[in-house]
Amino acid sequence: MPTTPSNPLAVIAELTHRCPLHCVYCSNPLELANRSSELSIEIWSRVFREASALGVLQADFTGGEPLARTDIIDLIRAARAAGLYVNLITSGLPLDEAKLASLAEAGLDHLQLSFQGAQEDVAQEISGTKSHAQKLRVLGWLKNFRVAVTLNFVIHRRNIGQIPEMLAIAESSSATRIEFANVQYYGWAFANRENLLPTREQLDRSLELIKQAQERRKGKIRIESVVPDYYAKFPKPCMGGWGRKLILITPSGDALPCHAAQVIPGLKFGNVKSRSLREIWENSDAFQKFRGEEWMQEPCRSCDRREQDFGGCRCQALLLAGDAAATDPVCSLSPLRPKVDAILASVNAVPLVGAQHAPPHLGTISTISSESPSSQHSNWLYRPNPA
Ligand code: SF4
Ligand code: FES
Repeated sequence: MPTTPSNPLAVIAELTHRCPLHCVYCSNPLELANRSSELSIEIWSRVFREASALGVLQADFTGGEPLARTDIIDLIRAARAAGLYVNLITSGLPLDEAKLASLAEAGLDHLQLSFQGAQEDVAQEISGTKSHAQKLRVLGWLKNFRVAVTLNFVIHRRNIGQIPEMLAIAESSSATRIEFANVQYYGWAFANRENLLPTREQLDRSLELIKQAQERRKGKIRIESVVPDYYAKFPKPCMGGWGRKLILITPSGDALPCHAAQVIPGLKFGNVKSRSLREIWENSDAFQKFRGEEWMQEPCRSCDRREQDFGGCRCQALLLAGDAAATDPVCSLSPLRPKVDAILASVNAVPLVGAQHAPPHLGTISTISSESPSSQHSNWLYRPNPA
């Protein structure tokens, strides 16, 4: 029997997969959408109205790089006209001060600027593009506009030692919120996992520094931290539970319960070009598949935590267990947890690398030579830019 859902709270609008960066942990699928398949502004405008009627409060504009859409100002206006709070998640690369003024004038409520590190060298190695200095310029301009700001530092093995410098960047900006978000292992990050996972020692040290910063800055700036759940005892409630709070729309209009859902074989996604958002949310196969508890296997089915974490992440279960309905293998109660422990053991056995040169050719598996005689070679799979 279909499970009746509550209202979604936010719609994650992947406006495009085009992006000037090539991050090795990008959450986009390995198969990227081309420009020619992107939804028109007319369809997005209808989707925003339908979302609002469905009870959605917020539109998160993301990509790729959402500013790659030349109609971004009109898209912001359309979402605002539908009554949605608009959050733009951007690398900041295509911005200048005049563009920022236009975004603010169109009604942008919130801007989330993502950082690949606290210094140009690591940021360039990870994103395959020189971008750090531009992000610092954007931070300066943002002080002149009434737009709320969050800084998002994506944390991994190569930059986890830069937490104090990241805090210094945030504290000199107008941001009221900082996210230290450890990489989660789907999409491009799954392919680059061995070079991205921090060691236990690195993680513990970083969590201590973040805790101290949270105490020091209490009441002034909100500091949030997301740990890599491979190191956790229990999994995260991915997306707040499947089909419970969020709906993601791909550049070509497929409506997904999460960023990575396309890795799960056999799921049928409704497309907003031919179906209303309400119809998809309430009835589509993909949203119904893992709603509620009927689909759960043991040990989740009889576990007291099932209403807190909903059995963890379905995509991670598929990637690590080969079965999207299995207990998320990062859970310490999962019979497959030893598989995750073996991954961590191999990561913790490898000595840390030293400073490395700028990234080589993009979109291929590449070897980056090391400046330190004691360090190893890193192989990165860079995300290409779709046509
Ligand atoms: Fe969560 Fe399932 Fe693990 Fe229980 S067994 S903690 S419900 S993932
Ligand atoms: Fe798909 Fe977690 S990313 S359920």
